[in-house]
Amino acid sequence: MRAFLLDGYGAIADHVKLADVVDPIPRFNEVAIEIHAASLNPIDFKIVRGDLKRVSKYQLPRTFGFDASGVVLSAGSQTTKFKPGDVVYARASRESIGTFAERIALPEQFVALKPARVSHAEAASLPLVGLTTLQGFGKVGARAGQRILIHAGAGGIGTFAVQYAKHIGLHVTSTTSSKNADFVKSLGADRVIAYDRENYLEQGGDYDIVYDTLGGAFTIDAFKVVKRGGAVISLSGPPDRDFARRMGAGLVVRVAVWLMSRKVYAASEAAGASYCWFFTEPDGEQLREIAGLVDSGAIKPVIDREFAFEQLPEALAYLEKGRARGKVVLKVK
Ligand SMILES: NC(=O)c1ccc[n+]([C@@H]2O[C@H](COP(=O)([O-])OP(=O)(O)OC[C@H]3O[C@@H](n4cnc5c(N)ncnc54)[C@H](OP(=O)(O)O)[C@@H]3O)[C@@H](O)[C@H]2O)c1
Repeated sequence: MRAFLLDGYGAIADHVKLADVVDPIPRFNEVAIEIHAASLNPIDFKIVRGDLKRVSKYQLPRTFGFDASGVVLSAGSQTTKFKPGDVVYARASRESIGTFAERIALPEQFVALKPARVSHAEAASLPLVGLTTLQGFGKVGARAGQRILIHAGAGGIGTFAVQYAKHIGLHVTSTTSSKNADFVKSLGADRVIAYDRENYLEQGGDYDIVYDTLGGAFTIDAFKVVKRGGAVISLSGPPDRDFARRMGAGLVVRVAVWLMSRKVYAASEAAGASYCWFFTEPDGEQLREIAGLVDSGAIKPVIDREFAFEQLPEALAYLEKGRARGKVVLKVK
């Protein structure tokens, strides 16, 4: 089969290569999937650049890519949920990445039946951003009636999160550029703050939850607008102090994490609001829930651009510019 291999860390153009590799053989708990579409996430170009070298150690060359939609080709001897011909979508773990390929074998617990009402391209756009949002909202117990600020409502995460937050009954404020303001409003946001016209820090706050997709100054500043007793969920800020324990890290990493996050914790203590950072994980059961939301019409996948399979390097470079409106998808079959 053909697959894209990452053969070293650095520039996309130098290290992302299309190659012929052996077909994956599903192990006892795995299903082999013929991939029809895959989607890109910022973590993909971060992996290429080597940004995650300390957290996820990969032996190169190797395949990569997290999200896929396709058809089950074969199933391992101890699988119980899927059979050849099932139409599925999936999110790989950091250890099993490899969806920028014609086929992949994944543990069946990472897989769910694809939402029936949408195309493979649309289904492939959902797993990582959907799971991140369900898991992040779950960690802080998001519930109807709360007020949430979602940064970057036009992005891959934002387009899912705005729709999901509205669906579960939150009051949603979201930031974006003015060119995307109407679009983010159309996703259901109650209020859109266009950052090139207004400063969100001057627009009042009192949010129960801030969903920080941007990191940097946005993480610390979240504590200026979150209410006492509220929560900041960050996807891009420094790791929270429990992260090193969850990853089973040694003393050196724990100390490094403590130092990286000390300013955020000082802001969190001063504001009387909690800080939560996490790495999203695969979860077939939650993918089943997301498929239900899509089939009921509560969530609509948003695709910015589709690229042909052979154009993965161009697609990664496009996403890396940080201006995608929704998701970037690779048509594999
Ligand atoms: N920890 C985890 O498990 C986890 C999981 C998923 C994602 N992430 C991280 O979360 C981040 C977001 O992911 P994504 O998929 O949403 O990225 P993305 O799709 O590439 O985000 C692009 C969007 O960001 C918006 N944007 C850029 N600067 C902005 C600003 N200053 N204010 C408001 N909007 C802004 C852009 O809208 P405009 O053009 O309108 O500015 C664009 O629509 C990434 O860093 C990713 O690595 C982490």
